[in-house]
Amino acid sequence: MTRARSTGGMDGSSLTGPVLITGGAGFIGTNLADRLLRQGRRVIVFDNLSRRGVEKNAEWLSKQHGDRLQVEVGDTRDARAISRVARTVTQVFHFAAQVAVTTSLVDPVHDFEVNARGTLNLLEALRDRRDPPSLVFTSTNKVYGDLDDVDLDVIDSRYAPRDPHLRAYGVNETRCVSFHSPYGCSKGAADQYVLDYARTFRLPATVFRMSCIYGPHQCGTEDQGWVAHFLIQALKGKPITVYGDGLQVRDVLYVEDLVDAFLLAHAHIDVAAGEAFNIGGGPGNTTSLVELLDRIEALHGERPDVEFDVWRAADQRYYVSDTRKFRDATGWRPKADLARGLRALYEWLTEAHARPEPALETRTFAS
Ligand SMILES: NC(=O)c1ccc[n+]([C@@H]2O[C@H](COP(=O)([O-])OP(=O)(O)OC[C@H]3O[C@@H](n4cnc5c(N)ncnc54)[C@H](O)[C@@H]3O)[C@@H](O)[C@H]2O)c1
Repeated sequence: MTRARSTGGMDGSSLTGPVLITGGAGFIGTNLADRLLRQGRRVIVFDNLSRRGVEKNAEWLSKQHGDRLQVEVGDTRDARAISRVARTVTQVFHFAAQVAVTTSLVDPVHDFEVNARGTLNLLEALRDRRDPPSLVFTSTNKVYGDLDDVDLDVIDSRYAPRDPHLRAYGVNETRCVSFHSPYGCSKGAADQYVLDYARTFRLPATVFRMSCIYGPHQCGTEDQGWVAHFLIQALKGKPITVYGDGLQVRDVLYVEDLVDAFLLAHAHIDVAAGEAFNIGGGPGNTTSLVELLDRIEALHGERPDVEFDVWRAADQRYYVSDTRKFRDATGWRPKADLARGLRALYEWLTEAHARPEPALETRTFAS
């Protein structure tokens, strides 16, 4: 794939119509909406507010940006509602999802309806447009399964792959998809539909297979958003349950870097369309769960109590994104290192934690 000329600046200045963000009141949606609104774009947030705490994000965005922001409380399972809202927009980010493996095991049908059917509803709405807007869809590293064929060593407090190439660069997009868990299946199906609508119907659509994202506005729970969840538990003085041995490794990406990547994907949609990209902090931003606890202890001055439990379904012992394909296509590189990003999230949570409203409930959110 060759790098092409950008079709729009990172400042979004070449586009005037509104941007649609499904799931836009969620963690990632709020950060993206804030950036776009600060750039002067108009944004439509389409969200059913089913995740606990996200109504606070929508309120915060409205307070910051007034009537440049339109909040539509709606559900992607409602094909007519999504079609109506997609009619006039010039760019789309599709984030609305049932976001956790754990809750997909409790209600696989709900998970399918939101993740697979909801995505198909959006794709059909875009296919109806004479001049379809560009689309970025947020898929997941879970489409690669549990990677149990990867030979690992334990080195100090983490797993490390024996294969030196994998150790140096991480997992790239040539890896075969292998859907594990209902969540893996529903997001994987959506991922493949987006790629196929790009291929078959020429939709300018691209897929981000994302690793762990963290940052302000994250309502992290035990089910999803573990970096924020660990910090919230530390702030509340509550114990953390680590599933497995805690040596599992992830690459973590600060949300502002992800927002940069989203804007670049739209700007370079001519080369990004029809492609899937692994997006994460990459080999330079990895941590095991127990290593993150060490960092939290240094930051917070106290180590949270930890309980260990059995491995969870479909958990990967090692996942690090090889992001070179996206870098080569767009020039993107993550800028925030983990120490700086973790401090920013800690400070945001400390402030949010001090507010009287229960914005940081860690209860499993409603389906
Ligand atoms: N955060 C991560 O680490 C991560 C990693 C990989 C992939 N992703 C994907 O990125 C996207 C955004 O994740 P996030 O962390 O911001 O999650 P989030 O839960 O904070 O945001 C998702 C939003 O979607 C809304 N929503 C859920 N079902 C809906 C429906 N049927 N109709 C309309 N809105 C609905 C929720 O209310 C919530 O505001 C998701 O698709 C997720 O699967 C996230």
